[in-house]
Amino acid sequence: MTMTPRQGDPALEASLRPLAAIVLAVVDPDPTVRTTIALELGGLGVVTYPDSEVESLAGYRPGPQPLVVIFGPGLADAAGLAKVESFTRTRPDAGAVLVTAELSTELLQQAFRAGVRDVLALPVETAALYQSLERVARNLTGFPASSPPVETPSMHGRVIAVTSTKGGSGKSVVATNLATVLAQQTPGPVVLLDGDLQFGDVAVMMRLGASHTLAEAVTAGDRLDSQYLQSLLVRHEPSGLLVLMAPLEPSFSELVSAKDVLRIIELLRGFCAHVVIDTQAGLNDVTLAVIEQSDDTLMVASTDVPNIKDTKIGLQTLHRLGVDASKLTLVLNRANSKVHLDISEVEHTLGMKAEHQIPSSLVVPLSVNRGVPVVLDAPKSEVAGAFERLASRFAVGEHAIPVKRSRTLFGR
Ligand SMILES: Nc1ncnc2c1ncn2[C@@H]1O[C@H](COP(=O)(O)OP(=O)(O)O)[C@@H](O)[C@H]1O
Ligand SMILES: [Mg+2]
Repeated sequence: MTMTPRQGDPALEASLRPLAAIVLAVVDPDPTVRTTIALELGGLGVVTYPDSEVESLAGYRPGPQPLVVIFGPGLADAAGLAKVESFTRTRPDAGAVLVTAELSTELLQQAFRAGVRDVLALPVETAALYQSLERVARNLTGFPASSPPVETPSMHGRVIAVTSTKGGSGKSVVATNLATVLAQQTPGPVVLLDGDLQFGDVAVMMRLGASHTLAEAVTAGDRLDSQYLQSLLVRHEPSGLLVLMAPLEPSFSELVSAKDVLRIIELLRGFCAHVVIDTQAGLNDVTLAVIEQSDDTLMVASTDVPNIKDTKIGLQTLHRLGVDASKLTLVLNRANSKVHLDISEVEHTLGMKAEHQIPSSLVVPLSVNRGVPVVLDAPKSEVAGAFERLASRFAVGEHAIPVKRSRTLFGR
């Protein structure tokens, strides 16, 4: 779907301003569509929901400001409009706007009957979208009474960053398996944040369907709070691990700043025992900020010469940047492989002990292709044992202060 970009147009910027007084939500089954519309309203703090969660949107009462919901093209049919109507009936105080790919008289009638106050046909001019939203907002009366306060988060979860200088070292395999074991063993919630913003593999490695992503947390701007962030987490049923998935489109990564990611981590650690973060290869701004913020950073390296050379440079860079060496742990992946280097040689080169070694095994790619973490797919394997030892390093009680789980937040 295309929308006209708004950047750099002073008139458009001005017409965006009145919208700051309202709360905007976007609903569509397609996460890319949701994010595209939310980005179009950039800076306004837009919350986004899939159509399957219209009910929870109906319960969303962020404060005294009026709520205007943009229903996307995925709801511009009879079934979608039934969901729109269920929303407008529950929330007569809110405004509803429908964006559709095809406009017909019949659809218009159905939309208005469903309680929609304005219908826009794609491609939507950004100015027209703003005007429509303002018009709808202006006519809203009967502001909702504010909802009871949400339980204040009171944890200080341990943040574990999983990094490597080179792609293909095994970061995502380490992050998914470590997080899975921690989720199984820890009483408090454990979150895995896919911080490989361009090519996040966690969703595939854990066979999680596309629903919410980190892009939604970022487009929410100031509206991002602990409760909304929790609603964006996807549960990995077999382990109970909660996952914040990477954006679906590589280009969205450009819109995510280190500051955004740090804010998300702070909110996550506020209600989690552990926050495990998979990262992009190398040391970009976001990854450096994540390392800085972390309590522990695992440096994953595989035992071949170029990888060790780059790891050495990476470690030197972190040292120069003042990263506390005591929080860095070297994890040697595929450590037993015969074609690779001797471990003592590697330790000597890096000036660091290889505290954890993950053997090379066919069970790893098999589990990756199945979308099941190897600790669940081959729990008796040597590799699974290595991940359990790694996880025991982060045993509960050391950093995290477990609190009781809130029913409202995890009852999805
Ligand atoms: N210990 C291992 N034994 C065998 N294959 C492995 C091992 N670790 C990783 N792999 C393989 O290497 C690939 C790359 O690993 P991945 O975790 O995606 O790397 P990164 O996230 O650092 O780019 C995986 O798909 C997996 O099949
Ligand atoms: Mg990866």
